[in-house]
Amino acid sequence: MKRGATKVLFVSSEAYPLIKTGGLGDVLYSLPHAVHARGADIRLLLPGYRALLRQLEQVRILGWMDVRGAEGMVTARVLETRHPDFAFPLWVVDCPPLFDRPGNPYTNASGQDWPDNAERYTVFSRVAAQLAMDGLEHGWKPDVVHAHDWQTGLVAAFLADQPGRPKTVFTIHNLAYSGFFPHGEFIRLHLPNHWWSSEGVEFHGGLSMLKAGIVYADAITTVSPTYAAEICTPEFGFGLDGLLQSRSYKLQGILNGIDENLWNPHTDPRLPAHYSMSRIQPGKRRNKQALLERFMPHADEAALAAPLLGLVGRLVEQKGIDWVLAAIPVLLAETDVRLVLLGSGQVVYEQKLTRLARQYPDRVFVEIGYDESLAHLIEAGADLFLMPSRFEPCGLNQMYSLRYGTPPIVYKTGGLADTVVDANEVTLADASANGFVFDTPDASTFLATIHRALALYRQPARWRRLQQTGMQQSFDWADSAAHYLALYAA
Ligand code: ADP
Ligand code: GLC
Repeated sequence: MKRGATKVLFVSSEAYPLIKTGGLGDVLYSLPHAVHARGADIRLLLPGYRALLRQLEQVRILGWMDVRGAEGMVTARVLETRHPDFAFPLWVVDCPPLFDRPGNPYTNASGQDWPDNAERYTVFSRVAAQLAMDGLEHGWKPDVVHAHDWQTGLVAAFLADQPGRPKTVFTIHNLAYSGFFPHGEFIRLHLPNHWWSSEGVEFHGGLSMLKAGIVYADAITTVSPTYAAEICTPEFGFGLDGLLQSRSYKLQGILNGIDENLWNPHTDPRLPAHYSMSRIQPGKRRNKQALLERFMPHADEAALAAPLLGLVGRLVEQKGIDWVLAAIPVLLAETDVRLVLLGSGQVVYEQKLTRLARQYPDRVFVEIGYDESLAHLIEAGADLFLMPSRFEPCGLNQMYSLRYGTPPIVYKTGGLADTVVDANEVTLADASANGFVFDTPDASTFLATIHRALALYRQPARWRRLQQTGMQQSFDWADSAAHYLALYAA
């Protein structure tokens, strides 16, 4: 039997508040803390992006590593730092030619993938694998390496045939992003020949880093039970459903939690007014006013009374933005709703949404960009939250909105199906309803569901109960952290 705390090396490309493009960042903040709080000994390894390095104060150099890159050897400096937001040490792969760049971790200023992404994440994964073997010989060797998403898919592969290696766990946060690169990259990066087969990393003639994680990790998890089942089907499997089915013995879905301290309407420092389940108004209304007044000079009684729909998210096909674009003009014509939307992503969605806002300047408010504080204010100030994702591995925003008394409207998929209970006569009567769920993936069903939600919004007593049901639910990490700890120990 092993003595002492389980040592876990988390490997990820994102962790809030240092670097975040979506839910991956949130989870890599709160999950390591949740397992740390339950006694595990944690290190979290991240790439040394420019934005991240700038936030570090005291760093210690753990050592240097030379690993193979695309044009010969690459030297990476491994840093250790303590950061006030983290209860455990952070490790950072500092390799300026690969990571010291402005802006987004994955794309350049015009939204195109960095051309050397294959090399960047191969080098990152090589360093991670060596650290997992205590390659710098400073006396900390993990029992488990827990790697996340395609950027870290090669970690398990590099470790697979190492004697005395730690257990490897690979978590899929989104199967749609596979880290797919041409065969030429596989050659240039000197990846082992024996990986190149349909049973290895090869996928439709190229290299799939996500597939590497699936094939070589000892255990695979994904972020909700429903998504774990969905990805084994052709509809949601992105061509990997057969492989995932064949690996179902080592695949499980563990629902994400949320950080209930960061996302708490009673204490959230980003909100102008606080509120709680027992007294939702007037706090929520003051947030609504503040939110509206970001976009219009004065929010009068009519503006405050009209239902306000909110949306925060990456503007990509996954998120059903085209259904929003189809539904909103109809809703504007038929009802008095307003919409506040914050997001960034595909240029075509950004343009169409900006055009819609210009067309309805008093009723559609669109902010293109990334703004953590505005995201909190939308969760608190909107009346309803739109999240019509075509697929959603887990989704955090619907849980944030439940907690903020802003019932979500979601499509029945993945983690949305696992967390939102549709309001109907039965679920309203037994007080299990917390939002609105549609199960036909098209714009007209989405629109009809918004109408259904608006009808309930006009019944204040029933609406309050719906809000309260969501607000009193717990989405903390307790159960999920216990599942991960059991998996580490298995
Ligand atoms: P995904 O990971 O697919 O983007 P999630 O719902 O799991 O979806 O998580 C999204 C996270 O990213 C949430 O914390 C959300 O508030 C945040 N987010 C997404 N887009 C923005 C934005 N434009 N500004 C601020 N926060 C954003
Ligand atoms: C991904 C998924 C999202 C999930 C998040 C955190 O980005 O798209 O559904 O909540 O990862 O696991």
